[in-house]
Amino acid sequence: MNTIGPIILVVGARPNFMKIAPLHSELESRGVETLLLHTGQHYDEKMSKIFFEELAMPEPDIYLGIGSGSHATQTAKVMVEFEKVCLDSSPSMVVVVGDVNSTVACALVAAKLHIPCAHVEAGLRSFDRKMPEEINRLVTDAIADILLTPSLDGNEHLENEGVDKERIHFVGNIMIDSLFNNLNRAKQSNILEQLELTEKNYALITLHRPSNVDDRDTFQGLISAIRHLSNHMDVVFPMHPRTFNRAKEMDLMKVLESIDRIRIVEPLGYLEFISLMESSKIVLTDSGGLQEETTALGIPCLTLRENTERPITITEGTNELAGTNPQEIIGLIDSIVSTGGKAGNIPEFWDGKTAVRIADILIANISN
Ligand code: UD1
Repeated sequence: MNTIGPIILVVGARPNFMKIAPLHSELESRGVETLLLHTGQHYDEKMSKIFFEELAMPEPDIYLGIGSGSHATQTAKVMVEFEKVCLDSSPSMVVVVGDVNSTVACALVAAKLHIPCAHVEAGLRSFDRKMPEEINRLVTDAIADILLTPSLDGNEHLENEGVDKERIHFVGNIMIDSLFNNLNRAKQSNILEQLELTEKNYALITLHRPSNVDDRDTFQGLISAIRHLSNHMDVVFPMHPRTFNRAKEMDLMKVLESIDRIRIVEPLGYLEFISLMESSKIVLTDSGGLQEETTALGIPCLTLRENTERPITITEGTNELAGTNPQEIIGLIDSIVSTGGKAGNIPEFWDGKTAVRIADILIANISN
C-alpha cells in the first residue's frame, strides 16, 4: 500500500481535531501511510496544541502556519501553501473534515490537481448562505469525490443537489468516536472543583458565531438571557478568542462579568470541556459540534441560532432551536428548568465506530 502515496489528513481549526484523531489512529493501525497536515488556521495553545496532546495525535507532519485573516486571505494562503505540499508529496488522497475555511481551501487544491478528495461530515446544510460555513460546505461537497455523511439528511441534500449516489456514503458521526473514546478519561478531570461547580447544577455556554458576537444588539440580548439563566443556576462560559475580542471592543466584558454566578474562563482543553458538558444541567451554544455532543450525552441543549445544519439533533436528540430573541430563550430556559428538558435518542451510527467505516471506504478507493 505504501507504494501509492500517503493519504493527507487536513486539520485547521479547533473542531477539526476531534474529527481527524480517530481516523488518523484507525488508518495508522491498518498500516496506511498518512501525512497529518495542520494549516494553522487556529494556532493558540488553547485552540490547537492542547487537542493534539489530549487526543494522542502526533505533532503534525506538516504545519502551514497560516494564522488569522479575512476569509479570502485565509483561504487563499492555505491554497498557495497546500498546493506546494501536494506537488511535493504526491498523495493518493486528501481527506478534509467539517466546514471551516481550511476545509474548502484544501478541497479546491485537491480537485484542481486531480487528487481524489474525501469530505468527512458531508451533506449538512443550514440553507443560510450568510454563514461562511454554508458556503464552505456547498463548495466542498460540489468538488469532493467521496462524500461521507453523518446522518441521512446529508444523503438527501446531496442527492437533491444532483450528486451521484455512488459518491455518497452514510458513515455516522466521527466526532462521537472521539467523545466516547475519551469520556472516561475526561471524568477524571477536576475542572468542576476548580470552578466550584456541582454536578447537574450549572449551565455551560459557548458563543462564537459572527452573527451572534459581531453584532452588538444580538450579543447584548444574549447576555440578558444569560443573566436570567444565572437566577436559576451557576453559569460557566469558556470564551472563544473571537468572542473575547468582540466583547472587549464593545465594552461588554464588564456587563458579562457583572452577572452574579458566572465564571468566564479561557478556552478549555478537550477533556476538561467534555467533563464540564457531561455534568452540566443545560448547554446554551451556537456551535455545531456541541449540538451533536449534547445529543450523544443526553444533555438538554438550546441552540442560539435561527437555523441549524444539524436538524437530527432536534428531531432525534436533546437540542432545541432557541433563536436569538432573549424573551424566547428565557421561556425555553424556564421550561427546561421546570421539566428537565427534552429526552432524546442517539442517532443511527453515532456509535463510536465511524472511523472504522470511513477507513474501509478510503482504503477501498485508494486500492482500486
Ligand atoms: C472558525 C470556523 C468556524 C468554527 C470555529 C471554531 C471558518 C469560516 N470558521 O471560526 O466554523 O466553528 O473556527 O472555533 O473557518 N483567534 C485567536 N487564536 C486562534 C484562532 C483564532 O486568537 O488560535 C482569533 C483571531 O482574532 C481570529 C478570530 O479568533 O481573527 C477568528 O478566528 P477564525 O479562524 O477566523 O474563525 P473562528 O471564529 O474561530
